[in-house]
Amino acid sequence: MKRIGVLTSGGDSPGMNAAIRAVVRGGLYNKMEIYGIKRGYEGLISGDIDEMQISSVSDIIQRGGTVLRTARSERFQTPEGFKRALDMIENFEIEGLVVIGGDGSLRGGLDLTKAGVPVMGLPGTIDNDLAYTDFTIGFDTSVNTALSAIGNIRDTSSSHGRATVVEVMGRNCGDIALYAGLSGGAETILIPEVPVDINAVCRKLIQGRNRGKLHSIIIRAEGVAMSSADLADMIEERTGMETKVVVLGYIQRGGSPTARDRLMASRMGYRAVELLLADSGSRAIGIRGSEIVDYDLEEALKMKRPHDESIIDLAEILS
Ligand code: F6P
Repeated sequence: MKRIGVLTSGGDSPGMNAAIRAVVRGGLYNKMEIYGIKRGYEGLISGDIDEMQISSVSDIIQRGGTVLRTARSERFQTPEGFKRALDMIENFEIEGLVVIGGDGSLRGGLDLTKAGVPVMGLPGTIDNDLAYTDFTIGFDTSVNTALSAIGNIRDTSSSHGRATVVEVMGRNCGDIALYAGLSGGAETILIPEVPVDINAVCRKLIQGRNRGKLHSIIIRAEGVAMSSADLADMIEERTGMETKVVVLGYIQRGGSPTARDRLMASRMGYRAVELLLADSGSRAIGIRGSEIVDYDLEEALKMKRPHDESIIDLAEILS
């Protein structure tokens, strides 16, 4: 395989640039031609595609976001849009594609696979919601960003003796909340995978106050059924504690990637090149323990992962 394309799609995540850099430089090292596709599947449909050189990816490993830009393409879901995307792949004589994105983006890659295009899927999302990999690119950075925010919130929360509901991202996955909550010493962590027990939340806050605790941090993953505002109202009503809401939002999606994300993205990006060179079909690349692994793309997207009960239990014991 000589000519390959690379795109980033869906919500950006810190480390996507490190992955692009590894694909481009790894491909060039192996005498391939690399085409950068802008704005994900949107750019594929409109032919917004440029050949990339070593210098195209200079000075990006430390940058958040994605230099290829990204989009959530609705047109790609239509038969016309999909057909145009396939035509572009043919026009540019692209023999294989590296797709860096979350679940929806990799499913888009699977559609292309079924139409005969070999696709390497790299897990680029802060949500950590892909079952076939222990970690996704960007998750570690986003947890660390949330952690730093929790530290700041704790200072002001203690000074005022307030409770604060901190809302983090993650779509339907509670991992950002769990990891940031446990490492930030949150009193309560609420995730979509476990129903909210408002009595237990309030009981814990009251017990903490009675022990002389000055602050209370409740981490709520955005996918939890009860909204942050409703939660804060209920806590205030039932405990009498003044309760604020902080929504971290896009702050946790941007920023310079951690060493862990850069390293993982670089290793995964280069694995994608190796697999394309070996004509390995379509694979999803991930990490298990410290090993970079790859699975058949379709099989990988069928995998299910239960949330890690041990982290919830530990957070509960230690808080
Ligand atoms: O999938 C990444 C993510 O940041 C989710 O955590 C969040 O629910 C969603 O994207 C937000 O999407 P948008 O960028 O379209 O607002």
